[in-house]
Amino acid sequence: MSTPRPMLRAAALISLALTAGACTENKPDVTYDPDGGSCAPSGRNDEIRLGLAPACEGCHLTGNKPFFASLTAFENGLVYDERYVKPGDPDNSMLVQLLKGTAAGSYPQMPPGQPYNELVANGHVSLTTAQVEAWIRELPPAPARLEAPDPEAFSVRRLSAEEMVVSLMEQLGLTLEDFVSTSDPNWRNKPYVVNGGKLFVWPGDWAPGISNEYVSDSRSVERFDALGGGNPLVYRKRDVGFGPSAAQTLVQMSQAWCARAVDKKSNTAVLRYVTLADTSAKNPDAVQKNLRALYLRMLGQPPSEAEAKELYEKVYVPLEAQSPRIAWIGVCASLIRHPLWITY
Ligand code: HEC
Repeated sequence: MSTPRPMLRAAALISLALTAGACTENKPDVTYDPDGGSCAPSGRNDEIRLGLAPACEGCHLTGNKPFFASLTAFENGLVYDERYVKPGDPDNSMLVQLLKGTAAGSYPQMPPGQPYNELVANGHVSLTTAQVEAWIRELPPAPARLEAPDPEAFSVRRLSAEEMVVSLMEQLGLTLEDFVSTSDPNWRNKPYVVNGGKLFVWPGDWAPGISNEYVSDSRSVERFDALGGGNPLVYRKRDVGFGPSAAQTLVQMSQAWCARAVDKKSNTAVLRYVTLADTSAKNPDAVQKNLRALYLRMLGQPPSEAEAKELYEKVYVPLEAQSPRIAWIGVCASLIRHPLWITY
């Protein structure tokens, strides 16, 4: 059996990741200030990275091409990969071609669908294509550290807002139909929430919802923003920290979604070994078994004896005095706020 990762360490890492100075090596530039200010670039490559960032990081902060996650990511993934940048030869560098919309691949333009020069013209970015070309002509040699692993790089990060939405639906046995009707032919003509609008949270650039009509409750998208989700369609970058608005949204979302999961007929996601007729007095074994199974389901590892006891005595039992339904919603929601749930 695996040893549970110490919860405190995970918690400390999150707060570290969230408060670490922006714009320094290996930390995402959450607060980059284009006018200089507190975020001086650490060299030529960093100047270019920070200059391009407003146009690119909406899509390239995470995922399989996280070029803008850090200077190291930028250098490793983009600058010193000759597929993208040919030292001394801007015309044959795909990066420049992408900015000009003339690249040969399936994506001729970056950002997709919007000429980079337009972003310069309307003030979205200040770094010009000519400056990028000049930099490639005199590309600095690759720093030696690119070869060496960086012991200070973070290995724990918060879940992205997308991951939270998708994995929580999955874990709680919920589907889109629990929040919006996906089958009513008349959906364009009325407000579209079902089950009393169980605090639906949904990315603004995903279907359904992309039309702003299907998910007629605009708060669905606002909550997703609050959770730290970005929206490349409107150039809003994701928030890689985990601040108070994200925490508050997750609390509300966890309570509403756990309630829906408990109330949903024949959903065994939360109530696997118990029914709402079982109580700690009548059927203590079933309650204990379900508690441990739920912990394992939500956090991916079994609880230690101490944690199982704490969850039972401090969360389940006091709430059971109100009702078993409330107790299971409370246990479920408390697991979602656990550092092991929030981090990856
Ligand atoms: C709206 C989202 C979005 C924005 C903004 C964006 N990209 Fe991309 N980028 C993509 C997608 C999607 C791909 C292709 C999918 C993949 O390979 O991951 C991609 C691929 C790339 C690639 C790899 C191309 C290849 O063929 O290997 C590079 C390099 C790149 N982007 C650079 C940039 C730069 C530089 C910017 C800013 C000027 C930028 N992107 C802005 C979405 C975006």
